[in-house]
Amino acid sequence: MTSLTQIRFEEPQIDALATVTGRVAVILPPEGTLSPAARRLNRLTRGALLRLVESERFSKLKTGQTVTLAWPAGMAAEALDILVLPRRADALTARKGGAALAKLTGAKPMLVMAGGQARTEHLALGLALRAYDFTAHKTPGDDAEGDKGAVTIAHNKAEAVAEAFAPLLAVAEGVHMTRDLVNEPANVLTTSEFANRLKDMEALGLEVEVLEEDKLAELGMRTLLSVGQGSDSPSKVVVMHWNGGEKDAAPLALVGKGVVFDTGGISLKPAAGMEDMTMDMGGAGVVAGTMRALALRKAKANVVGLVGLVENMPSGRATRPGDVVKSMKGDTVEIINTDAEGRLVLCDVMWYAQERFKPTGLIDLATLTGAIIIGLGHENAGVFSNDDTLCNAFLKAAAAEGEGAWRMPLGKAYDDMLKSRIADMKNVGGRPAGSITAAQFLARFVQEGTPWIHLDIAGVASVTSETAWAPKGATGWGVMALNRLVDDLAG
Ligand code: BES
Ligand code: MN
Ligand code: ZN
Repeated sequence: MTSLTQIRFEEPQIDALATVTGRVAVILPPEGTLSPAARRLNRLTRGALLRLVESERFSKLKTGQTVTLAWPAGMAAEALDILVLPRRADALTARKGGAALAKLTGAKPMLVMAGGQARTEHLALGLALRAYDFTAHKTPGDDAEGDKGAVTIAHNKAEAVAEAFAPLLAVAEGVHMTRDLVNEPANVLTTSEFANRLKDMEALGLEVEVLEEDKLAELGMRTLLSVGQGSDSPSKVVVMHWNGGEKDAAPLALVGKGVVFDTGGISLKPAAGMEDMTMDMGGAGVVAGTMRALALRKAKANVVGLVGLVENMPSGRATRPGDVVKSMKGDTVEIINTDAEGRLVLCDVMWYAQERFKPTGLIDLATLTGAIIIGLGHENAGVFSNDDTLCNAFLKAAAAEGEGAWRMPLGKAYDDMLKSRIADMKNVGGRPAGSITAAQFLARFVQEGTPWIHLDIAGVASVTSETAWAPKGATGWGVMALNRLVDDLAG
């Protein structure tokens, strides 16, 4: 796994500032007041910080932005970075400040003089999240960035900040795992490799079961198997249990779409952009990363994570358009388009999760439709739910974590669009409202009385320009929101 930038906390040693090597960063509030460390740095640099504060440049700097004094006179460091951040910044603002610092880090170490800054643990989280870099397949060389230097954060209450950072570090680890899985190409992250990486999480205290094809056939997961049958990689369902709550109390169930590559199958996708479909296991990636975070911070809750791992390939064995397949629930599906495969995977895993665990709530995540990108772009995931209480709790958690989420409608008229002439339903509803009819398909597999949320993350799982705390590529969207939701529900 991509290792996290090392972050440690210590008490400030102002007298040593002249001799620190690498980069030194200091925080200034928008009003420009100098902290004790800033005063010392100002003295060492013969007034450079005060001149900055009085400059027009400073008055134009916004919260969370940085300015760098390179090779400052009077210091051994090769850069003095100034971050503008209000002393009492809220958590998300502090994270943005940390993310801005992360962009300045390189191979050399960085010392951040945070003084008495509020929510410094969130600044550290932002730094850890934004410092992520997927280099697994880059040959180390001159222009490849090597390992990032360690970061030391000097704070007046270093011990308390370190303690507050521990559960946030668990979340950052979870986000890193999700991003690694989503960034990984499909020749590396096969269904078997994916299952192995999940199995490895047993070391963290999770119980991990891998259900193989014979078992899936026995359980009747025919729609899931119909998606993977054209591939040489075996279909699998992995069940991850975290039992940190009351013994035998029903768990929350998280279900993820794990299509390790989506060619579209016989309804083949066009060549342009098909390479992006390595991220079609994004839902499963978020479930995995969330389970990792919960285990690492020993969450006091029972959560079960299930992922359906398949590869959607054309072949002589592949499902054809027009085939009719019976789901585990027993309903039959006319497969009009083999590229609408995510719902076929999810419906069986969702049914299995409810039959086996009688969960208190069911949340599925999937890079399900291109239509949700047309509707919401890359800013918000589509949220569909049959339960206002659970849905509002999720929307609140997502907002608190700065992860965009927007509720979409469901309704009978949309459900009617799935009517089939020869089976109980079709797997597509036509072009209009494509994300909603996909959600309606899933809704048919939600049992009476189960609070359910469907998250269509096709637009947010992987992006082509950087976000507030992720470089371009996989974002890890949803790990932080789900981690918080689990806490809120347990609280
Ligand atoms: N994996 C795709 C959805 C997707 C598109 C994810 C773009 C990420 C980026 C999904 O399996 C799919 O192919 N959906 C079809 C559904 C259609 C055939 C009804 C789509 O959105 O075009
Ligand atoms: Mn598809
Ligand atoms: Zn897909």
